[in-house]
Amino acid sequence: MGENLALNIADHGFKVAVFNRTTEVMKKFIARENPPGGLVGCETLKELVAAIKKPRKVIIMVKAGAAIDAVTQQLLDAGIESDDIVIDCGNSQWTDTIRREKQYAGKCKFFGSGVSGGELGARFGPAVIPGGDPEAWKHLKPIWDAIAAKVDAKTGKPIETAQPGKPVIGGVPCSAYIGPNGAGHYVKMIHNGIEYIDMQLIGEAYWLMSRLLGMSATEIGKVFAAWNEGDLDSYLIQITADILQQPDPVHKGENLVDYILDTAGQKGTGKWTSVNALDMGIPANAIAEAVFARCLSALKDERVAAGKQLTGPTPSYSGNRQELINAIRDALYCSKICAYAQGFQLMREAQKEYNWKLNFAEIASIFRGGCIIRARFLQKITDAYTRSADLTNLLLDPYFNQQIQNAQTNWRKVVGLAATNGIPAPAFMSALSYYDGYRSPRLPANLLQGQRDYFGAHTYERTDNPRGKFFHLDWPEAKRPQLEVSGH
Ligand code: 3PG
Repeated sequence: MGENLALNIADHGFKVAVFNRTTEVMKKFIARENPPGGLVGCETLKELVAAIKKPRKVIIMVKAGAAIDAVTQQLLDAGIESDDIVIDCGNSQWTDTIRREKQYAGKCKFFGSGVSGGELGARFGPAVIPGGDPEAWKHLKPIWDAIAAKVDAKTGKPIETAQPGKPVIGGVPCSAYIGPNGAGHYVKMIHNGIEYIDMQLIGEAYWLMSRLLGMSATEIGKVFAAWNEGDLDSYLIQITADILQQPDPVHKGENLVDYILDTAGQKGTGKWTSVNALDMGIPANAIAEAVFARCLSALKDERVAAGKQLTGPTPSYSGNRQELINAIRDALYCSKICAYAQGFQLMREAQKEYNWKLNFAEIASIFRGGCIIRARFLQKITDAYTRSADLTNLLLDPYFNQQIQNAQTNWRKVVGLAATNGIPAPAFMSALSYYDGYRSPRLPANLLQGQRDYFGAHTYERTDNPRGKFFHLDWPEAKRPQLEVSGH
């Protein structure tokens, strides 16, 4: 990704000095590429630092974690100065970025920027998600705006390009300053958490079509290709259509996807999102479910052994095939709305905790192009937050509310079919539980509070008293009068 980002920057006419700890790698790169801005190969970090105009802007593209600190220190040793900007474009944890900005203050301006879009995105236009010192941002903005993916100003649709040396001219850049210190990396993490649930939902839709309708991977791929023409139009749906229809290179006439082992890997950003949700007490259950679904998939040997002992129904469906396909599409769409609602709820809470002022319309708008979750849907989220910057929850936006009203019967039908046929659909199910929980003025937490008070004297509030007044009962002698407890 580092090479591709350098080429993208140079495509826009900026001269780029490049360094790799393995000089041979750097030399091969320089020999291979000839972008318009030009590349200057550096064999040492001292050479790199000497080659760049002040204030220097140095992008680090190394593995998140200790390597970032090691390289930053090496840069300082090589002559980086207090006004120079060191930008971490990896998937760093936002708390590390907050810590690093403080730690390196006075030595350099440490800046965090998320970059999403994979290797191709880095080369031809990623979504960039910068956060850090606003003064440093002034120096970075022209470069970030230039290299970012572009969307059409009227439609919000990505303007695709994949031509070296011929960047997109015009369009709206998928780049906007997010906020100070770790804000950029935080929002990038949420992007990835949403990416996890988006991918899981697509996987569940595929699996329901396969298990309930006995459809082949190619047939399902064609369904995804058709969905990509409608409201679900997105990069992940589009690549899913391709992946499902990809022939296997080994077994002629068969599909590669049927030979890919069903154990998912992960690098951690979905987990960080879920841990952060737990820390802040925000119900991002569908996002967490997507992480756990990967964990469950990874227990391959256990699942194979358990499958020999644990029984369940054999999937069967005798209804109309096209109706079920449409219902699965609706379930996917409704669940996706809940997933994004959860991601945006997290950002809403985090901004209070870190004193950021996040612009949700702008965040949704930079996700419209370049990044992995880019989708037509993001224009609708941009519109929702443009209508109401303080929207409490995306579900309350009139457009999304209406979408769920239109599609929820199908969503419930699909979740019911998954349950009765023994097909795991944890993300569809937890998204529906989130929706039903969020719209419920009453939940069974009254009983739960009773239990907590019974075994731990944790107290409860009463429906017939003002909030903040706490009671305790000396259980189980329930006939005793209730005592009012204060100070909890
Ligand atoms: C990445 O950073 O490559 C992806 O956005 C997330 O990676 P993961 O699925 O391996 O965690």
